[in-house]
Amino acid sequence: MLGSRFWCSHKFAEGDDHLSHSHTHQNKMCEWVEESDSDGNCLKTKKYNGKYYASIVPGNVSDHLERLQTMEVRDDDTFVLSYPKSGTHWVFTIASMLRTGQSKYMGSPYFLDYNEVDYLDKLPSPRVFGSHLTFDELPRQVREGKGKVLMITRNPKDVAVSYHLFMTKLNAPDYKGSWEGFLKFYTEGRMLYGSWFEAFFDWENTKAKYKGDNVLYLMYEDMKQNLLVNVIKMAAFLGETRDNLFLEEVTERCTFQTMFKTVMSEIKPSDQDYIHQMSDNKKLPIYRKGEVGDWKNHFTVAQNEFFDRIYEEKMKDTKCTFRFE
Ligand code: A3P
Repeated sequence: MLGSRFWCSHKFAEGDDHLSHSHTHQNKMCEWVEESDSDGNCLKTKKYNGKYYASIVPGNVSDHLERLQTMEVRDDDTFVLSYPKSGTHWVFTIASMLRTGQSKYMGSPYFLDYNEVDYLDKLPSPRVFGSHLTFDELPRQVREGKGKVLMITRNPKDVAVSYHLFMTKLNAPDYKGSWEGFLKFYTEGRMLYGSWFEAFFDWENTKAKYKGDNVLYLMYEDMKQNLLVNVIKMAAFLGETRDNLFLEEVTERCTFQTMFKTVMSEIKPSDQDYIHQMSDNKKLPIYRKGEVGDWKNHFTVAQNEFFDRIYEEKMKDTKCTFRFE
């Protein structure tokens, strides 16, 4: 799927002989896996190294991850790293405006995960990539200090709701189960990109241990609380000197309401194909509510108690706290 900007899903390629279909094959290969939830709905995924990757990650996953390691990084490259539904498009849009100096809506990022490196190599600068991979899976040069990384995290209850509803709006999703089934998969880490907790610990551990100064750690809820402060912080981090007027304009253009309106009114004819392809109502299913606390409209009391128990156990050693409302 060369040039795919969107996080979308595809049916399994038939005759993909280079992929392993059984547990007995060498572990350098991913396996096609179909995990069933309690209602019999399947998660279709490429499982590699114990982790569930989206079906559109190229080839056998292993080769793609290996190739990414040696990708040539440019000084003005920006990498937006997130667990799905944590605000990837939001941060991408702000970073793109800051990098280009134009407060223009740019659509969706090119994902490292879904595009061949040869294709990414040819994109013009400044490049702002999206990725749901972990910090260690980024190109080696990034971990040597080249380029800039914006890592964003978001409270796991709102992510769960956003993730499930996003899946249900895709034409050919990797999973199309009920909320109940999804939540179970999600808490067990059997969803694409694994568990929210693993992704959060990647964010937290990188923050605690990585010595480089080319990573900025963001929280969705903080951005909701004061977007201008975060836009200013991002501009300084990216080394983009922009005047106050421009930073205020970016902030205004990147509120949920403005972005939602822009997406609905400024979609270029050339984008229609992507949108038609990936969503069943021809609308980009990324911009939904953009709120903190919408999970309350979806979790039952029992589901909330169940999730809280897991959350408390898994997060007992972390000092980081999330705002849930
Ligand atoms: P909701 O489904 O809760 O509305 P991602 O880009 O990682 O897929 O994340 C999508 C989520 O970010 C969606 O959450 C979307 O509405 C939210 N989002 C996108 N732009 C936003 C903005 N400008 N402000 C707040 N939330 C935004």
